[in-house]
Formats: sequence, C-alpha cells, structure tokens
Amino acid sequence: MPHSSTSAKTQSQTTPASPQLQSRLPRVGNTIFSTMSALAQTHGAVNLGQGFPDFDCDPNLPAAVTAAMQAQHNQYPPMPGVAGLREAVAQKIQALYGHRYGRDAEITITAGATQAILTALLAVVHPGDEVIVLEPCYDSYLPNIELAGGIAVPVPLTPGSFRPDFEKIAAAITPRTRLLIINTPHNPSATVWTDAEMLALAELLHGSNVLVISDEVYEHMVFDGQQHQSVARYPDLLCRSFIVSSFGKTYHVTGWKVGYVAAPAALMHEFRKVHQYNVFSVNTPMQVGLASYMADARPYLELPSFYQAKRDRFKAGLQGSKLKLLPSEGSYFQCVDYSALSDLNDRAFCEWLTREKGVAAIPLSAFYAEGSDQTIIRFCFAKQDQTLDRAVTLLRAL
Ligand SMILES: Cc1ncc(COP(=O)(O)O)c(C=O)c1O
Repeated sequence: MPHSSTSAKTQSQTTPASPQLQSRLPRVGNTIFSTMSALAQTHGAVNLGQGFPDFDCDPNLPAAVTAAMQAQHNQYPPMPGVAGLREAVAQKIQALYGHRYGRDAEITITAGATQAILTALLAVVHPGDEVIVLEPCYDSYLPNIELAGGIAVPVPLTPGSFRPDFEKIAAAITPRTRLLIINTPHNPSATVWTDAEMLALAELLHGSNVLVISDEVYEHMVFDGQQHQSVARYPDLLCRSFIVSSFGKTYHVTGWKVGYVAAPAALMHEFRKVHQYNVFSVNTPMQVGLASYMADARPYLELPSFYQAKRDRFKAGLQGSKLKLLPSEGSYFQCVDYSALSDLNDRAFCEWLTREKGVAAIPLSAFYAEGSDQTIIRFCFAKQDQTLDRAVTLLRAL
C-alpha cells in the first residue's frame, strides 16, 4: 500500500507543532504534596506528608454505595445532588450548629471541597475583585482566585500562634474586597477559631458587602472538648457565607471526592449557575450510599476522640525529642518547630528528613504565596498507630 505509507511518512515529517500557549496559571507547578509523596515513595519513607488516612474506611460505607449501585442508582442525579443526601446534610448542620438550611435551595453536593471552593469563587468574584486569604492557607485558594480573575490579598495569621489578626484583616479590606476565605479547623496550623474570634469577624464584616467562604472540611476533628465554630452558628456570618465541607475527610474516603456547600438561597443560586455547567452533578451511587450512611451520626460524632487519640499518641512519642510541638487543636495535623536541629530552610529540611531519615512532612512555606522562613513543618497523623510509631522511632533518633 504505497499510498498509505507515503502519507504516514509525510505526516511524521510535517507533524505540526501545537499552538503556543499563554498559561492561565504561569506560576503553578507540581504541588508540594505530590512532590513529597513521590520523594517518600522513592526513599521508602514513612509518609506523614500528604493529608490522607492510610487506614480503611468503615466497611458499611462502601457496602452502602455498592447497595446503591445494585439498586440501579446509576443515572444522573438532580443537579444540586440527591435529595436524601441534601436532607441529611441539612439535618446534621441544624443538629450541630442550630441553623436550618433549606434542602432544596441552600445545599449543593459537590465533587469534593476543592471543586466547591473554585465554583464559589467563579460564581461571585469578578475580574479585579479582591479576595482576602489568611496565610498560611490551603494551596488551591490562590490559583482558584487567579482563575476567577480576582486579586488575592494575603494577610498573615499571627506568626507563632497562627491566630487571626483582626486589625490586619480590617486594614486589608477595601471597597474592592469581594470575599474573605477562612478555614477552621485550620490546615496547616491545626488551630481552631474560638467563639470570640468568630464574633470579632462577624462584627468586622457587619454591614459590609464582603462574602465569606468558610472552609470547614475538618469540622469533625476538634479536640480537648473545644467546639467547632461553624459560621452556621453566627447569623451575621452565615448570611454572607458559603460553608464548604468534605465527606472525604469525615469518613476516611479522600479519594471519593464528594463534599457539599451550604449557603443562603441567593448565594446558592449563583453557585449553582456555575456548578451546573462545570460538574453538573456528582456521581449518584456515592450520594445515595452517603445518604443512608449518614442516618447514623456516630461516625462523625466519634471522630474527635478517634483523632485526638492519634494526636496524643504522636505527641507523646515526640516528647523529649528535639522537635518542638505546636498546639494541635483540630484537623489531623501536627506542626513542629525543628530549629533546635537544623538551620536548613523548611523545604530543604523536609527533603533531608525524607531522604536521610525516612519520614516525609510538608514545609510550612508551601502554604504561603511568597514562601516564609519559619522553621516549621507539618505532619499528618491520620495514620495507623503502627505507621505513627514507626515515624516516632525515626524522629526521636534525630
Ligand atoms: C483546608 C482544606 N480545604 C479543602 C480540602 C480539599 O478537600 P476535598 O478533598 O474534599 O476536595 C483540603 C484537603 O486537604 C483541605 O485541607
């Protein structure tokens, strides 16, 4: 077939180059989480870097999803999510935080919290609008703001304590401020906002046009008897807020990527316009399975003590080591200051720790737009006890 071989040759000789691209996100590369996980794998290190459990979820949860698939819940669900799951979320929020969100107009099931945050930003941020982020912050916030055409205005949490500094936040608010992102319990610092801090924020924003994304993915991981202060508890905040949460975090299924957003109807109306033409809907059997699993509140009510025991085990193991532990009030993270051990910067220290000592962590500077020079790294303790014990043995030997 001379004709086809000639055309194949011509084709390969003249393969056209792809058009040149101008990146929408020129500063974005591989995330530190993927980089450290890959390094941990190469060196066979205990991976306390990326935030995911290394233990199984409750078998009743995949069983509920399997049952949903077998019962033929396999076609598109309604765009905002399966009604039963939205109802379960509404009931949970009401029971825990006292505000009843409308199942039909105020709750949407999303493909994880990450999608929820991007969708909320795309829905309400116009090009040139300013969005205040409190640093250190979860790594998707800044590129998400950029994609929405917004201008990120980073305000540092108080160095050392990582508490919000309301004078600094107030000073960052301008007539162009459209939105503020808060996150409690906080990744990476593991602080939990107090009632007084929530009230201070409510007072600061009272009467303004500033919206809030309240990232509450660690809502069920709060320790030592402290309470999670959802914005749903504060009328002055909930009226302007998108609450974002994640079933992945709560039920040890981070790979499922299912979460939800709760917001007043007017905000949710705009949110859904974007959601509808981006995700449209989240997979049905997961939603049906989660709805039936949520009938039992114990899994999330027992989560604080489950994770507090892990935190305490890890903490106790590190007592007497050269690492200085910062308070871990919530989330599944424990930050430590390594300045007694090394004057490497935090990224170089994490690489050294993974390569030479066999434990992977995340440098705190990765959570700042312009980096930072605190000698602090973050460990994730959502791990089996034996994984934590192995890490502790290695870390005590430093
Ligand atoms: C603060 C914070 N927000 C959002 C997310 C993303 O949650 P999801 O996996 O549901 O997208 C994470 C995950 O690490 C997180 O730490």
